[in-house]
Amino acid sequence: MNALVRPSELKKQHLIDPEICIRCGTCEATCPVGAVSHDDVNYVVDADKCEYCMDCIAPCPTGSIDNWRIVKVAYSLADQLGWAELPRQEDFGEAAAAAVEAIEGEVGALLERAHSGTGGKPVAPVTASKPTVNIFTRTRPATATVQGNYRITAQNGSSDVRHIVLSFGETLFPVLEGQSIGIVPPGMRADGRPHDVRLYSVASARDGEKRNANNLSLTVKRSEGGVASNYICDLKIGEKVQVTGPFGATFLMPNDPSTNIIMICTGTGSAPFRAFTERRRRAAPGAPGKMIMFFGARAPEELPYFGPLQKVPESLLEKHLVYSRLPGRPKEYVQDRIRSRAGRLADLLGSEQTHIFICGLKGMEAGVDEALADVCRGYSLDWSRLKPQMRATGRYHVETY
Ligand code: A2P
Repeated sequence: MNALVRPSELKKQHLIDPEICIRCGTCEATCPVGAVSHDDVNYVVDADKCEYCMDCIAPCPTGSIDNWRIVKVAYSLADQLGWAELPRQEDFGEAAAAAVEAIEGEVGALLERAHSGTGGKPVAPVTASKPTVNIFTRTRPATATVQGNYRITAQNGSSDVRHIVLSFGETLFPVLEGQSIGIVPPGMRADGRPHDVRLYSVASARDGEKRNANNLSLTVKRSEGGVASNYICDLKIGEKVQVTGPFGATFLMPNDPSTNIIMICTGTGSAPFRAFTERRRRAAPGAPGKMIMFFGARAPEELPYFGPLQKVPESLLEKHLVYSRLPGRPKEYVQDRIRSRAGRLADLLGSEQTHIFICGLKGMEAGVDEALADVCRGYSLDWSRLKPQMRATGRYHVETY
């Protein structure tokens, strides 16, 4: 208790949790007033510049940005750059308790208001299970063992996409379909700092790649010069991997088997949808809800899981595999197929049981949005009203990069 602190001296400070932050830079790119900056170690918020607009909160993939402390003297940038973890909330005593509560309420209200301006705060599907998040951090990661690593694009294709299976052994690492995990590449960068954590969507169902085997799978594309992707794609069976997470509290599969799930993806964005499909196959194989997938790739040999996908029955998953670079054929993107199946989609969009999930290239987001608006226009639906409604009720989810 600090009897010298007067309630009027207290203020809220916006901070980033360095243990959870994966250093993706989204917050810095989003901040309209340049309050977020970084060095080689941490992302930090300048208390003199932050105007609490909350623009950075929703885009952050881990939630590390959504941290607040009530302070008398703001933590400086130098303080924050030196942190390995957030400091505890200081106790200002009973005299200041009402002020602390009021400030906390104000932060909550600002968050609500900010989200309402951007089409609604991301909300988990009503029937999704409650996710567990942020159990393992960069300073306290889980150790997994590689159980599998094989290529899931054709050998004659130009992209090397791999299916990686990680076992957690005796460690409890709960995940839900739609969540991600962080992989910590070993070693140091040239400047002596640790490598950044990279986030990957889980491609297996909650009960494991193999049922009840306490393992999970990832879909990883090797990218030229990419530290994490090359490290993961080169992993050998039996090697140990440092893992953080799990992450993600809204892009989650609805449990209700009567929900229709429209899944729109490109490339490795298909990972969560492999998880969704496997979950429904295991938990509710005769579900009344429809699952429909629009999956874009350059060609069949570049489409991850092309072979296994052929074996998934249409009764479980209605598949629209679309290709942009087939010789002698016009380019087709997922949004083109959405337009050409307008009637089918309009049927689904008219139902309150329908959820939309979009995952993959950022570039597809606008195109898909326009295509869905066109579908609605043709069938007396209003996308400009339907989309925010779906988002507010946890039925519209986007994860692009
Ligand atoms: P393309 O690159 O031929 O224009 P990738 O293999 O690079 O991960 O890409 C996956 C697929 O997404 C490719 O077919 C790619 O087409 C396609 N794509 C690229 N940009 C967009 C976009 N703006 N909207 C939808 N699909 C896109």
